[in-house]
Amino acid sequence: MDVKKILITGGAGFIGSHVIRLFLNNYPTYQIYNLDKLTYAGNLENLKDIESNPNYHFVKGDIVDATFINSLFEKEDFDGVIHLAAESHVDRSITNPLEFVMTNVIGTVNLLNAAKHYWKSFEGKRFYHVSTDEVYGSLGATGFFTEETSYDPHSPYSSSKASSDHFVRAYNDTYGLPVVISNCSNNYGSHQFPEKLIPLCINNIKNNKPLPIYGNGKYTRDWLWVYDHARAIDLVYHKGKEGETYNIGGFNEWQNIELVKTLCRLMDKKLNLEPGTNEQLITFVKDRPGHDLRYAIDANKIKKELGFEPSVHFEQGLEKTVDWYLANEEWLNNVTSGNYQNYYNEQYTS
Ligand code: NAD
Ligand code: TYD
Repeated sequence: MDVKKILITGGAGFIGSHVIRLFLNNYPTYQIYNLDKLTYAGNLENLKDIESNPNYHFVKGDIVDATFINSLFEKEDFDGVIHLAAESHVDRSITNPLEFVMTNVIGTVNLLNAAKHYWKSFEGKRFYHVSTDEVYGSLGATGFFTEETSYDPHSPYSSSKASSDHFVRAYNDTYGLPVVISNCSNNYGSHQFPEKLIPLCINNIKNNKPLPIYGNGKYTRDWLWVYDHARAIDLVYHKGKEGETYNIGGFNEWQNIELVKTLCRLMDKKLNLEPGTNEQLITFVKDRPGHDLRYAIDANKIKKELGFEPSVHFEQGLEKTVDWYLANEEWLNNVTSGNYQNYYNEQYTS
């Protein structure tokens, strides 16, 4: 029996909660520890269905607190770390870059230090950093990010993630810490805090509020259903080669304006509205400073080496996502009732 004790950081967030659920289902002998500070983006309601699973353990804490992290690693002999805890929203990073340096850079180095120090032997251990394609910067109209693309981050968010990726690689090169990294495109799906494009628009349509489109709306992102990202994380954690990087994507590019129009049409149907009703909410607003034009992932390495392919088409995934938000009004109300800032209102209204 393969018994493992795994620390998942940021497990109360959007992607982390899906990873925890998938690991508990796929590996019934694993003990899963969820370390999370519970910021505005972390919500234990995301894990309500598994909170009484005897293999699941929640630890509230801040990865910036080195003393706390060290004592946790001293107490629990983790076999592996899947590190997702981060400040993750680009607009917030523009307002408050230092918070991103603290959690994304210092927090990551604290975890690396603890693993290096408390893991008596590196045999059978693994430190997995979950990162973003935004570290590669911005593409023009053509081309894709590969694992060989040079880092060229532009936002404070992507700069902090690029920095943490470099530290993770440095700990492999310098100390032999067994690491693996993946860089994924934009995720969508259930349990995503409604400040990122898709859940923000779903929530605003529900409340008959404007759908803010930054600039001319021609910015392009590659979108992957969150459950598929969790599947890819499972593959990289278990089968990825030490020291390697894997790009994860959906081969699914959308211009923001086309994506939001598609969402509007879908929600016209779901809410029994006249076709075209929700599109009237689209409002072009001031652009995000330093806005990256286009992200697109070449995901051939993970496909060829680990056999990863997305399991749903975008339209299917989007419909599942909309259905979830419409069925989970209480969740939406709860997560938005706290003291969080609405960046469209505060930052980009000219
Ligand atoms: P999220 O913002 O939904 O969740 C982040 C979680 O980290 C929250 O539960 C929060 O409470 C926790 N956290 C924040 N600061 C912490 C701290 N100092 N100590 C402990 N916990 C802390 O983010 P997400 O969208 O689930 O992203 C998870 C990871 O995946 C991030 O590292 C992000 O960079 C990466 N990623 C995200 C996307 C995406 O589209 N969302 C795409 C690629 C990579
Ligand atoms: P976002 O969901 O914030 O993800 P990221 O910036 O990490 O890619 O934004 C996705 C795209 O949508 C990005 O080009 C910015 C744009 N956007 C809007 O046009 N309006 C919005 O209200 C938001 C949140 C994003």
